[in-house]
Amino acid sequence: MSKNIRNIAVLTSGGDAPGMNAAIRAVVRACSFYKIDCTGVYRGYQGLLDGDFENLDARSVRNVINKGGTFLKSSRCEDFRKPEGRKLAYDNLKSAGVDALIVIGGNGTFTGAQLLIDEYNFPVVGIPATIDNDINGTDYTLGYDTALNTVVEAIDKIRDTASSHNRLFLIEVMGRDAGDIALNSGVGAGAEEIMIPEESDSLNKLMKSLKISREKGKTSSIIVVAEGDKSGKNVFELADHINDDLDDYDYDIRVSVLGHIQRGGKPSCFDRVLASKLGVGAVEAILNGTYNVMIGVERKKVVQISLKDAIEPRHEFDQELRRVADITSV
Ligand code: F6P
Repeated sequence: MSKNIRNIAVLTSGGDAPGMNAAIRAVVRACSFYKIDCTGVYRGYQGLLDGDFENLDARSVRNVINKGGTFLKSSRCEDFRKPEGRKLAYDNLKSAGVDALIVIGGNGTFTGAQLLIDEYNFPVVGIPATIDNDINGTDYTLGYDTALNTVVEAIDKIRDTASSHNRLFLIEVMGRDAGDIALNSGVGAGAEEIMIPEESDSLNKLMKSLKISREKGKTSSIIVVAEGDKSGKNVFELADHINDDLDDYDYDIRVSVLGHIQRGGKPSCFDRVLASKLGVGAVEAILNGTYNVMIGVERKKVVQISLKDAIEPRHEFDQELRRVADITSV
């Protein structure tokens, strides 16, 4: 175990995700367990620039495991993108006696961390936290499971109206450029069609499937649309398109954009457990002298992958689940 590490800082950055508090808690408690200091950084990279630090001990993180959001707060910091900003961040870390930094966030957070590594050789370890589940090297990101449960619950409620009024609902879900939330919630909520950015022919597929559904006598439908879908139409334009193109079928269409409710709420048990494993894994990696990696989970095992590889764009998606979706929506 490294004797050079006496103080680890932790921050949360980018979009908040349920489970971030549980991850901070695990980091702080692991530092306490291994008898080293832990410095909390407020408002992500902005707090590094402002020197907005606070010492955290095991008791500072009581009663946070069950809370959504992040008590350290988060931001998307423009100044950290500039070399002068990163110099200030490095200087503040050094003068606070911080030996290594744990960043909890998504792709943008890790891209920032990589710059700190490249320019100052500062030891950083990442914990993947984003509802989008769009990071290489981990089966799950923190917040994704909770977001899926929130989306499925919302769609279940919308389905009551859809079936009571014989309506077609287009439901937009988050995910940035990834279709994981749409595909998984769509299967979980029994959607008729799911449009995801990873597939280029989503509009044709949708129109065909709507015609077939009507001919089979389906009277209501739920279509889940990922916000990053590449049909070239937003969800309101899609509704107009269906209205115009399937005029004969007389659809009563409604649009529902679920938005930021997907990021909030109590983390699921799955996310709390995952956060605990990743937080402990991050501190132990640093104490074992392993830096510049992201801690992920693959087949239940905690794994490490270089931050560089973690931030590479991810292109593949769960083709098997898409096949299941097609079969179960006949
Ligand atoms: O990355 C998480 C996420 O919620 C995406 O799904 C979404 O595209 C984006 O953040 C929204 O960002 P903001 O909260 O800045 O509008």
